[in-house]
Amino acid sequence: MQAEIAVAEHPREQAINIMYAVQGHYGYLPDEGLLEAAELLDLTPLELEELATFYDFIYRRPVGKYVIHVCDGVVCWMFHENSVFEYLCQKLGVCAGEISADGLFTVLPTACIGFCDHAPAMLVNGRLYGPLTPLLIDEILEKLKTEYCDLVVCK
Ligand code: FES
Repeated sequence: MQAEIAVAEHPREQAINIMYAVQGHYGYLPDEGLLEAAELLDLTPLELEELATFYDFIYRRPVGKYVIHVCDGVVCWMFHENSVFEYLCQKLGVCAGEISADGLFTVLPTACIGFCDHAPAMLVNGRLYGPLTPLLIDEILEKLKTEYCDLVVCK
């Protein structure tokens, strides 16, 4: 991390990369990780907290193995017969941001993910899925429960 910071014109340019690196280590960005990153970046903890909470892909609380970002954009809403978000939460027995009982899933809303031509859409650990139907969602969840899926880092 220090090598990346050293080549930056200003350390804050590397803030997202550093927070991702810390998140990659802990699985989320805990307070101690945020404090460590703020010190490295020569930012106050509050300045870094503002950045961390602005980005949907920085997690300030623990998350499941798979983070499902359900698109909350207007195009996806036009194609929702039933709410994908509510369907997933009901299916997994969670509210937004919670971890499912098996530790596998967290569901979060997010802004347009740029997959509007496949609306309604979602990202699972950075992988795009759509157009979603309840049947397709069930298939995706079953596959994720039984197969290892790589993490695609979103920035
Ligand atoms: S509005 Fe959902 S992908 Fe664009």
